[in-house]
Amino acid sequence: MRFTTSLSKGLGGVAMVFIAVGTPPCENGEADVSVLDAVCREIARSADGFKLVIVKSTVPVGTNERIARVLQRDGAHPSCFRVASNPEFLREGTAVTDFLYPDRIVLGCNCPRSADLLTKLYKPLLDGSYAVSSNAIPAPDNARIPAHVVLTSSASAELIKHASNALLATKISFINAIANICEVNGADVKEVVDGIGTDQRIGSKFLKPGIGYGGSCFPKDLKALWAVAHEGGYDFHLLEDVMQINKEQRAQFVRKVRQALWTLKGKRLGVLGLAFKGGTDDVRESPAIAVIRQLLEEGSYITAYDPAATSRARVEFPADAQITFATSAYAAATGADALLVLTEWEEFTALDLERLRMRMKQPILLDGRNLFSPQQMKEAGFIYYSVGRAEVVPELEPDDSSREAA
Ligand code: UDX
Repeated sequence: MRFTTSLSKGLGGVAMVFIAVGTPPCENGEADVSVLDAVCREIARSADGFKLVIVKSTVPVGTNERIARVLQRDGAHPSCFRVASNPEFLREGTAVTDFLYPDRIVLGCNCPRSADLLTKLYKPLLDGSYAVSSNAIPAPDNARIPAHVVLTSSASAELIKHASNALLATKISFINAIANICEVNGADVKEVVDGIGTDQRIGSKFLKPGIGYGGSCFPKDLKALWAVAHEGGYDFHLLEDVMQINKEQRAQFVRKVRQALWTLKGKRLGVLGLAFKGGTDDVRESPAIAVIRQLLEEGSYITAYDPAATSRARVEFPADAQITFATSAYAAATGADALLVLTEWEEFTALDLERLRMRMKQPILLDGRNLFSPQQMKEAGFIYYSVGRAEVVPELEPDDSSREAA
């Protein structure tokens, strides 16, 4: 493996070029493809024989066609290149196993030559030989071996990527909406998810209710797909609703905290979780950060803990005297009027609940990710609020009554 900062050196003598540059959102939600455009121009200039140009970046449908035009316009002869789409479906935190043991490999090729080259490239995953090799990284549970290949046109492959993320986000917003209905009608969202998720046509994945989705992909990709549809004259208002429900889900949680504490002004809140999901230090579009901003605006004082994302989160709150960062969950809980769970870190489920409760001013826990069970929290002596499930109030234990009296 060689690394270089010179594109022409990197391109020298290679038969396949993967483009994996960023495509951040513009003001109007469209994907900004200017870096992609710049890279393609350089590829056209440094052509030295046939190259298959493969687009890994998440791009609007139609981009492959545009790239082919740019390459030709900037001097590459049409016989010297082909363009193909090979979207990635990697999740942060599990990217390596997602790559090696994918549900499917999508190859968007408009000619047999491209399909042939890409199929050869992915051979170890497509014939299962990687999985049985001596140095293979162990397969996760339920891995599909060998990987399934989906051969499509480049336009379909581009759309598969956006449509997959949009559908996953839709599932999350749908279950969050159902959770809100559960809360006002006494139903339990976990039971509802068990009931609908066992229908094989629906499946139970991506039906975890909470404070909504975040990260560097779903929010950006939904906007980009909406923009593609809009540009083509189609009003994809379902996506607007998905995004709106996601936004309201955070406000709904803040409302819950306010109701539990009567007012947020001057309250000390412990926060567990800053990352947009568990297992990563990424705070981009993190629902936790959005919730914290709202709580700070309403005058709360926050002590936050995250196993990995603290240094990235600090940058989001420069010189804010209302927020401090703790080095453990127990430190974040110390003296708190309430403790908030905002990210689904597995390590939070192993916390010593008794130790946590004894450090708090009031035993109130608001679980924005349904990490704990109501029964468990009742037994641990917490007043417990979660998403889409009834509030839990424990029978008072002797030390709790003395704490309340104090
Ligand atoms: C996502 C896609 O899963 C991946 O295929 C694509 O390549 C990139 O975008 P990632 O952003 O790493 O991956 O996160 P993911 O695990 O999908 O979770 C996204 C967000 O949804 C997180 O904020 C998570 O907390 C939230 N989520 C997920 C829920 O709220 N409920 C769920 O049931 C699942």
